[in-house]
Amino acid sequence: MSASRILFQKAARAFSAKGLYFTKSLNYKAAPAPLPPNLDYVRYATLGLCFQEIMANKVPGNVAELGVYQGDFAKRLNQLFADRTLYLFDTFAGFDHADVATEKSSGFSTGEQNFANTSVELVLSKMPHRPQCVVKQGFFPATAAGLDDTFCFVSLDADLYDPIIEGLRFFYPRLSPGGYIFVHDFSNDEYKGARQAVLEFCAAQGIGYMPIPDSGGTAVISK
Ligand SMILES: C[S@@+](CC[C@H](N)C(=O)[O-])C[C@H]1O[C@@H](n2cnc3c(N)ncnc32)[C@H](O)[C@@H]1O
Repeated sequence: MSASRILFQKAARAFSAKGLYFTKSLNYKAAPAPLPPNLDYVRYATLGLCFQEIMANKVPGNVAELGVYQGDFAKRLNQLFADRTLYLFDTFAGFDHADVATEKSSGFSTGEQNFANTSVELVLSKMPHRPQCVVKQGFFPATAAGLDDTFCFVSLDADLYDPIIEGLRFFYPRLSPGGYIFVHDFSNDEYKGARQAVLEFCAAQGIGYMPIPDSGGTAVISK
């Protein structure tokens, strides 16, 4: 075995002990836009492939994220879907007490993570196509009232059962055929409500989902 191969295997073993894996990127298809180094290749690369399918199939509709926090995933959405409106739904002040109460009474999670260290200004400052962004600040689903639009891609990353099930109820009927919904934390044992919301909603609708091994354990729903 060559010296470089031995070195690679040593490094791969050391990283895998920390839950980090080297993987080849998609080898035979160009990425839609250069993917900067990050710690969730699977999530970002899957988004890239879904984006390419949406474009190739000319799927109509806009884009939304429920659960924006500091806007890191939203930035990539805005970069890729440059010609679509991007709705940004968040309290921008962390979880709501009513949602946390459901988490605790149902044993889904402690709901203790604090996502208050953000602001609309911080998020918008990261967006490469800022005029395409529509900020929906406040408690979801109240912030979706009266919104009459269709969607080609939706990211549901609100962690908790109540906003996720409400997000599925609001966005799935408005998702264009050929569109995708990513539900973050589906396979996250610390936020069991995300999985429960997907299972309940998909069973009620008679639709399927695909779990992917990204860092948060996303489930992908397509139409
Ligand atoms: C894990 S963070 C989102 C992370 C973000 N998508 C990213 O890629 O960095 C979850 C966010 O969901 C928001 N959130 C949770 N429940 C909500 C609700 N009912 N209405 C609005 N925002 C909510 C929180 O304020 C928090 O910012």
